[in-house]
Formats: sequence, structure tokens, C-alpha cells
Amino acid sequence: MKNIVIFISGRGSNMQAVVQANIPGVRVAAVLSDNPDAAGLQWAAAQGIPTFARRTGDFASRADFHRAMLEVAEQYRPDLVLLAGYLKILPGEFCAHYQGRLINIHPSLLPAFPGLHTHQRAIDEGCRLAGCTVHFVTAELDCGPIIAQGAVPVYDADTADTLAARVLKIEHQLLPQAVADFAAGNLSIHGKRVHNRRTAGEAGQG
Ligand code: GRF
Repeated sequence: MKNIVIFISGRGSNMQAVVQANIPGVRVAAVLSDNPDAAGLQWAAAQGIPTFARRTGDFASRADFHRAMLEVAEQYRPDLVLLAGYLKILPGEFCAHYQGRLINIHPSLLPAFPGLHTHQRAIDEGCRLAGCTVHFVTAELDCGPIIAQGAVPVYDADTADTLAARVLKIEHQLLPQAVADFAAGNLSIHGKRVHNRRTAGEAGQG
């Protein structure tokens, strides 16, 4: 059984998608947050999943906060730490500790639009496609090896909200699949590239 600890900051719909996927061999061991008011915490607690939340403001520095969060996460012996709508930037030592077992979902087709306000930026740039990326986390923001991406069309009438809703639907498919691939041992990292044993046979002919 693989233990997952999930970090969230708010609604937690991606966390819910992972829990509800009931992935064979995967146990969501705990949900941690930097926001005690995160709606997703209540939902997780109602499922009987242990939750924990602290505010960064209660600590002298962001590094101290994440040291404390790491200590809590470690109690659950995570095979995988998942960032699912977690809005704080992680310090390098946290990323290094979980290297190769720290995964994030980001709402853009990376390397386009790292950081915030991804949907508005995609609209402003006139993109005809937008989407999301599941990737391993490294100390460099939104730059780690890409596991999976999903794309959706951008329509003329789109606002950041309508586009976000369309992208979110595929986030909810992509993230549980990536967790399942990780848990099944399908993923291996080769520099910037991730090899997926499950999809390796899908190579087409140009
Ligand atoms: C998602 O779009 C995720 O990609 C981004 O923040 C949003 C969080 O949504 N990082 P939720 O909390 O999972 O509902």
C-alpha cells in the first residue's frame, strides 16, 4: 500500500478526485493545509482522513513553517506527497527531501504560464488551447519533469472563470491517473523527461 499525503490551500476538488478514484494500492493518509479555513479540509475529515492545518503567520519564516509541515507529513510515512491546489512556494530543502515523490498539478500547459493567473494570461495571449500539467516538483517553480498534460479549447467568449472550469474537469481526470501511474511504478525520470511504462506502447508513426 502506498501512502499519499495531500497538500491543499482551498476548495480541494483535485484532492477529492484523487480520494474518490479509489486507486488500487493507494491510501490517502492525510490532508495538510496552510489554510485552516480550506473547504477541502472539512470534506477530507468527513471521509475519516486525518487533517492538519497551520498558518504561515504562526511561524518566524516560510522555511520554519514548511519544516513543521514536513514533520507532520513524515508521521504518515508518505511514498508520495501531492500538491493539489497548494498555493505556497515550497523551500528547496522540502523539495529536495521529497525529490522524485513530490507531484504538483498546475493549471496551464507548462512551460507556458508558470505562476498565477494562468487562465487570464492564456486568454490575453490569444491562445487557442489551454490546459493543465501534472509534474514532479523541483526547487524551480513549475519547472519539474512533466508527467501528463491535458488540453482544452479556448473560446472567444471565454473569461478566466469559464476557462478555469473547463480545465478543472480534465485536472480531475489527469491527477488520479498520474497518482495511479506513480503508485504502479510506471513513472521514471530521465532528466527533464518522464517515461511512463503504461503509455510507452502508444508511440505513433508521424
Ligand atoms: C486547480 O486549478 C489547480 O490546478 C491549481 O489550483 C486549483 C485548485 O483547485 N493549482 P482545487 O482546490 O483542487 O479545487
